[in-house]
Amino acid sequence: MYNSKIIGLGSYVPDNVVTNDELSKMMDTNDEWIQERTGIKERRWVSKGSEDTSAVMGAKAAKIAIDKAGLTKDDIDFIVFATLSPDYYFPGCGVQIQDMLDMPTIGAIDIRNQCSGFIYALSTADQFIKTGMYKNVLVIGAEYHSNGLDKTTRGRGVSVIFGDGAGACVLSRTEDNNKGILSSHLHSQGKHADKLIVKSPSIKHWVPEILESTEEDTSYYPFMDGTFVFKHAVVRFSEVIMEGLAANNLNPNDIDMFIPHQANLRISQFVQHKFKLKDDQIYNNIMKYGNTTAASIIIALTEAFEKGKIKDNDLVVLAAFGSGFTWGSVIIRW
Ligand code: ACO
Repeated sequence: MYNSKIIGLGSYVPDNVVTNDELSKMMDTNDEWIQERTGIKERRWVSKGSEDTSAVMGAKAAKIAIDKAGLTKDDIDFIVFATLSPDYYFPGCGVQIQDMLDMPTIGAIDIRNQCSGFIYALSTADQFIKTGMYKNVLVIGAEYHSNGLDKTTRGRGVSVIFGDGAGACVLSRTEDNNKGILSSHLHSQGKHADKLIVKSPSIKHWVPEILESTEEDTSYYPFMDGTFVFKHAVVRFSEVIMEGLAANNLNPNDIDMFIPHQANLRISQFVQHKFKLKDDQIYNNIMKYGNTTAASIIIALTEAFEKGKIKDNDLVVLAAFGSGFTWGSVIIRW
């Protein structure tokens, strides 16, 4: 068995900044409500006419990550792409990356696990490396939410939260068994699928039917029972972090850097206080980018690393919870 280690990181967000005040011109909301409930001050939304999509933004982040790893596109053995907002119903974004980066005909898969997408993607890549099948795996998380949101007052409970962006890393084989990904822990509970969901288009409710339906049919917009999701998130975050630490005979005092999925600053702060982490032991950037779902952890990890907040040998904990429900953690010795 081999260990895997992140050797290159990259991120990309669109230039277009959308403040809470700008949202209040589109729907009945305000800066105070959004900041108080979520911590979000602004987010990036792809501007009209831009070439950016989940795949395009993912490719931009991936190029940086490959470059920072000191590799070329031809060194990559496999692509894992996490998104809930793919360019096409099918095929997935992973194959678009293979083409956009002009890579050899390597394998590519998409992970459909929403806010936990990056955790699942990293864990998947880790297994391929552990078994010796691949040496360098490109892992991408990217989301283009803004074009699929209900930007009227009807959708305000969801639309103000989400932002667009992408992050990527190169996960590589390492001979050092004490470094890299120590373990990953994945969970799901499908009975709560309808608490955070985009129902259509589905094969059961396909496009012609949607076109014929009344305005009350909002099944093609994200629906979220925010309070229900919040309550489960704080419990599952705590559980899965403890599970990861216990599996490695560690405890919360050992955490040097915790990077939670950026769902809501209040969720991150709840977990921070529960584990008695100081402000420099957690990294949040939801204030600037909103919830970028599968991209949020990898964008935050990239920023934290670039700011020098993660050092050699640090214990880095990543954790996420989201639609599915799905949740998970990854424990890394940097
Ligand atoms: N601006 C102003 N008022 C609003 C807005 C808005 N944008 N949105 C909702 N409101 C109103 C509601 O209509 C409601 O009004 P009422 O009391 O008159 O009915 C009131 O504010 C309270 O609404 P709640 O939904 O109860 O607000 P809550 O305090 O629960 O906060 C939030 C909502 C921020 C969404 C929170 O529940 C949350 O963050 N939940 C978890 C989100 C999460 O973790 N998601 C998982 C990841 S996402 C993924 O996997 C895709």
